[in-house]
Amino acid sequence: MKTLIKNGTIVTAGDTYKGDILINGEVIQTIGKDLDVEGAEVIDATGMYLMPGGVDAHTHLEMPFMGSTASDDFYTGQRGAAFGGTTTHIDFALMPQGGTLKQGIQNWHEKAKGKTVIDYGFHGALTSPSPEAIQEIPSLVEEGVTSLKIFLAYKGVFMVSDEEFYKALEKARDAGMLVMTHAENGDAIAEIMKKLLDEGKTEPRYHLDAHPAILEAEATGRAVSLAGQTGAPLYVVHVSCEDAAKQIEMGRNKGFKIMGETCTQYMHIFEDDMKVPGHEGAKWACSPAVRTPKDAEYLYRSLQNSTLQVVSTDHAVFWYEGGKDGRQGGKELGKGDFTKIPNGIPGIEDRLYINWDAMVNTGKITENRFVALMSTNPAKIFGLYPKKGTIAVGSDADIVFFDPKKEHTVSASTHHCNIDYNAYEGRKVKGMPVKTMLRGKLIVDNGKFLGEKGSGQFLRRKTNNPVL
Ligand code: URP
Ligand code: ZN
Ligand code: ZN
Repeated sequence: MKTLIKNGTIVTAGDTYKGDILINGEVIQTIGKDLDVEGAEVIDATGMYLMPGGVDAHTHLEMPFMGSTASDDFYTGQRGAAFGGTTTHIDFALMPQGGTLKQGIQNWHEKAKGKTVIDYGFHGALTSPSPEAIQEIPSLVEEGVTSLKIFLAYKGVFMVSDEEFYKALEKARDAGMLVMTHAENGDAIAEIMKKLLDEGKTEPRYHLDAHPAILEAEATGRAVSLAGQTGAPLYVVHVSCEDAAKQIEMGRNKGFKIMGETCTQYMHIFEDDMKVPGHEGAKWACSPAVRTPKDAEYLYRSLQNSTLQVVSTDHAVFWYEGGKDGRQGGKELGKGDFTKIPNGIPGIEDRLYINWDAMVNTGKITENRFVALMSTNPAKIFGLYPKKGTIAVGSDADIVFFDPKKEHTVSASTHHCNIDYNAYEGRKVKGMPVKTMLRGKLIVDNGKFLGEKGSGQFLRRKTNNPVL
């Protein structure tokens, strides 16, 4: 089956040009001018930007966490992603407490089974860092899992010691894997939380006081130094603030193999959004916490100058009003005690249009850098390129038809994820994905979902990937 996309403007990380794309089955066969192919189904893309499908490198579907489970499963979360122009994501497979890394991967395969509608991979997560688990790290490569998240935060739950972190860095380095770290000082945060609660400070806004930028910067600097000492590559997840980005800059200037991402929320949601009366601020309780517009400006600069290479979402969704109508408990679990609010924020569906509007429409980021941040760089860093992350001959035909003129008001009443609020409610954006193609098949077409449950493919990823 051949499909010919005509008259679009192709946007890759390197170029913007008018061209036609011929797809043969699941892959791109030819890119050229004025192509004419007998028997091919023709899709007219006049007025559209044709970009590689989004690659979201940081998601948590159906994740058990803080007394709840994320409400988006592999069907609803991936369906939302598809509407938003994302065709690949990498989810964190948390190992069971006291169990093995491979059990985590198996559990996540079970969650995904029969539900997937876009392509996906897994990161390991060293959430129970026994000596046996550290020994087990290299065996993840056999599972097609070549990156591993390690937490310096969430004391008593996922947090590891510096010794465990250091040993894991060495193991991962020798196996050609990439360590990813959640960098916050979990010990200090636990102390601050106790003190705030003792003082009767229980509302969601105190989440901000418990997660100050300086403790993110401290842990980022520590992680960068330990990685630099071992020579292991390191990718810092969800960088939220200037002070943490500066630690990454420091490591890169020393020649360490350090990379990092920020997430949509850190450029669009700020401390003042959380400082609202009542429980509403809980919607934006995530770790690290949201920061200030000044931090966001620094993050934009860091994305421009390659201190940071990726924008992800950290999509981890918990009902605002859970515990009723068959729903899991959600953000209401933290009423009267902010430390019990399940941490996380939605975004898998919103990432491309929110950031296009804020980055490309304002001239802060070129459309090519946008493609690099949203698709090409995560595909390269996590071993999926050039199958994913670009529009090129031989690549999977994962293509977003993006209408730069289409306007939209973001709302939970129209989004497609399984969550009762939208973190960006009411924002007006210009530029929307209108068709999403996965491996040559349209899975979203002008508001209609055409994906089939179980059609998403698990992606086995390469080792020894480039440090960008
Ligand atoms: O608040 C967050 N970030 N929730 C998801 C888990 C994590 O730390 O990434
Ligand atoms: Zn994290
Ligand atoms: Zn996360």
